[in-house]
Amino acid sequence: MPDNDYVGILDFGSQYTQLIARRTREASVYCEILPPDVSPDVLKKHRLKGVILSGGPASVYQRKAPTCDPKIFELGVPVLGICYGLQLGAKLLGAKVSAAADREYGRTDLSIKNSTDKLFRGVPNDTQVWMSHGDKVEASSKEFEALASSKNCPWAAVRHKKRAFYGVQFHPEVQHTPYGTQIIRNFLYAICGCRGDWEMKSYVDNAIAEIRRTAGKDHILCALSGGVDSGVVAALVHKAVSSRLTCVFVDNGLLRKGEAKKVRDFFEKRMHVNLVVVDAANKFLNKLKGVTDPEKKRTIIGHTFIDIFKAAARPLKQVKFLAQGTLYPDVIESRSASGGPSAKIKTHHNVGGLPEQLGFKLIEPLKTLFKDEARRIGRELGLPEELVKRQPFPGPGLAVRCPGLITPERLEILREADEIVTQEIEKAKLQDKIWQYFAVLLPVKSVGVMGDERTYNEVISVRIVESLDGMTADWARIPYDVLGSISSRIVNEVKGVNRVVYDISSKPPSTIEWE
Ligand code: XMP
Repeated sequence: MPDNDYVGILDFGSQYTQLIARRTREASVYCEILPPDVSPDVLKKHRLKGVILSGGPASVYQRKAPTCDPKIFELGVPVLGICYGLQLGAKLLGAKVSAAADREYGRTDLSIKNSTDKLFRGVPNDTQVWMSHGDKVEASSKEFEALASSKNCPWAAVRHKKRAFYGVQFHPEVQHTPYGTQIIRNFLYAICGCRGDWEMKSYVDNAIAEIRRTAGKDHILCALSGGVDSGVVAALVHKAVSSRLTCVFVDNGLLRKGEAKKVRDFFEKRMHVNLVVVDAANKFLNKLKGVTDPEKKRTIIGHTFIDIFKAAARPLKQVKFLAQGTLYPDVIESRSASGGPSAKIKTHHNVGGLPEQLGFKLIEPLKTLFKDEARRIGRELGLPEELVKRQPFPGPGLAVRCPGLITPERLEILREADEIVTQEIEKAKLQDKIWQYFAVLLPVKSVGVMGDERTYNEVISVRIVESLDGMTADWARIPYDVLGSISSRIVNEVKGVNRVVYDISSKPPSTIEWE
């Protein structure tokens, strides 16, 4: 346990709780997400500087609504309630909470009434915030001061007059609240007196210590995909247990150009990791023969991967743990908010179900982080930029970019086109501004003319998107010249393609990958 300033974040079930933690980490303050009913004694064990109560989907007046121990307010440290957290804090401290006549959702104008309060230091008096609430606080001005209000919410930011309790009805942790980071920093620094004594290096040190503690003397297996997340995890685990890590890399025949060699060169030759490479391209392609349904493709790839991985792991008798590069957005995207199956968009995580089947315990050191934080950890570990900056690449690989039949010939066309997209984006030095850039081979033929010949070939769709975490995305407005070079190079250099289109769909309602 690090001896840093400590902020406890009580999680009432908001989808943004991890974003609160992320903003706190970005402010160089150590924090932990805790269950809502955590005992104040647990918090007291740390160098506690403040407590944040997250948002949540419940209404505080519902029966069985989650609550916290009221002694949290007697710990002598400031408490910040966000949305549900504000309503709960206000209720526990004597205010009324009821259903609002006008719900507020989305961007809302906020008017600050007390601009001298530390919470709003450096924030303009009129600003925008992100609201998402159906209930509202009706406090008494004897006990609470309204620091800010919105059209439908007179108590949009409050402060208790005697206790160090602050609450905001809006979400300062999301990007759509432009001064949100400033408000969180104000709470941490100006109100709680944090010193900013935590850095990403501490995360790495803690993660390594935790891996060592969990694994004891046992061996750990890691499935390498060649992507950033599994690469960072492999490096982290390698640092923790060195030769007690074995990595398995399955070449499924659905990789990008030169990818298998790159993975091998880096992990085996440079990092000296025990690496088992399984060449299973034929096996995957045989199983995918004749299949066009996207979910069926994903299921086949997932099952085949599990079979191959199991066979590769069987001889490694001493292995008890499987390390995975699960990130926080993977955790939320694969969890259905309604609990029903309707929210499952795509079968993700090709290794899902694998640890149970192999009898392994899981090690997921990146589970609470976002992609760019995983990249920062990679840099901290000294991984080369080439690996750290790699774009996300899905487990099912090129299969999800090859609608229609998956054949070696179509994969070859896709690989060549994809390589051209990569080269042109890198030549234009756009790679750092873009989340993903790739080619998709469409099973649609169109007529073209080449020389004096009529052609009847397939279409490449170029997908280039900007995103922060892959959960939402927008198509990138890249210069026409770059698109022009990509298009002319693909039709000239890749046999079998005579037309290139640019995909201008955002997520939602589209997804980033085509299948
Ligand atoms: P979608 O297509 O769902 O993609 O908008 C969001 C992000 O996730 C990546 N992706 C995957 N990653 N296994 C993975 O590890 C998968 O099955 C998978 N499918 C999509 C995608 O590349 C994008 O970054």
